Amino acid sequence: MLFSKNSKPLGGNPSLYTYSASGFNYTYAGASGYIHEVELTNLTPDTRYYFICGGPGNYSAERSFRTAPNSTSEFKFVAGGDSRSDPASRTLVSQAMSHFNPSFVMHSGDMVENGWSQSQWDSWFSDVNDNWIGDNGLTIPIIPCLGNHEKNATNYYEQFALPENEQWYYLDWGPNLRIIVLNSEARDQIATDQADWLNTTLSSTPENTWKIVIFHRNVYYSGYHYNDTDIIDNWVPIFDQYHVDIVIQGHTHHYHRTKPMYNNSIASSYQEGTMYLTSGGWGVPTHDYTPQLYSDYGNETHHFVLINVFTNGTLHLEATDINGYVFDHVWLNKS
Ligand SMILES: [Fe+2]
Repeated sequence: MLFSKNSKPLGGNPSLYTYSASGFNYTYAGASGYIHEVELTNLTPDTRYYFICGGPGNYSAERSFRTAPNSTSEFKFVAGGDSRSDPASRTLVSQAMSHFNPSFVMHSGDMVENGWSQSQWDSWFSDVNDNWIGDNGLTIPIIPCLGNHEKNATNYYEQFALPENEQWYYLDWGPNLRIIVLNSEARDQIATDQADWLNTTLSSTPENTWKIVIFHRNVYYSGYHYNDTDIIDNWVPIFDQYHVDIVIQGHTHHYHRTKPMYNNSIASSYQEGTMYLTSGGWGVPTHDYTPQLYSDYGNETHHFVLINVFTNGTLHLEATDINGYVFDHVWLNKS
């Protein structure tokens, strides 16, 4: 792989790139070919890089990415999930969200119908390859989590290169956002390994950092599926203790935003309680929404959620349909 930090494209001529990095390749049963994995280190924060992949005589077309900031700065990202089953609708959501130039996508799982089906993964990655490019030309990276439809398949682990054990991990996007990914499908580790790890990870999160947790299954019922009592018993008290700002889930195929929740009750504001956001509308046939006492808003349309983080300690969340229409929005205030 060849790459350069540059203000303009370099056009794919290998002689023009400043840096090179190499990795390794591997394959697995059912794979369509070889997976190539290259780790880039010592990158400059908040900087655009252009790159080509391959080797002498056979390089890809040029793409570009932007590194995360290391100081307080304004940025935006997208959250959503359940992109299986209906490729045409999935593409419409992908195209709609890319116009907003998000720094990354947090995907709440069920990317494909059957995690063991390589042809479904190939179709899904094709959509990502074609459409997860911002109007600014930047490739939009993914922060994924496992859904039940991934079936804990080898294909997931082999096609993503993720931190820690790849099932639960965290990363910081600059000093003001900690993203925590959990695996709601590892049922026998919800009360044990994951709860312990969650406690440790949240207890080390600096003050005044937005804390956003993502996993697949719904904590609170909104018309389909059920309250997840394992998660309510084992994770919700930890979310309360450290005041997680937003818990993002998928699994149920609509949009649902709860009122602020603390100790399984409605709190007076989002500074007192946590927002539980279900966003499962990235192209699946949708489920009926049935409001509950703790529901603040719901909608059954295909959608994604755009989250803007500002430098003054505020955050603005917009639920957006495939036409760019914002059907729900809310401000959160950290200070
Ligand atoms: Fe699901």
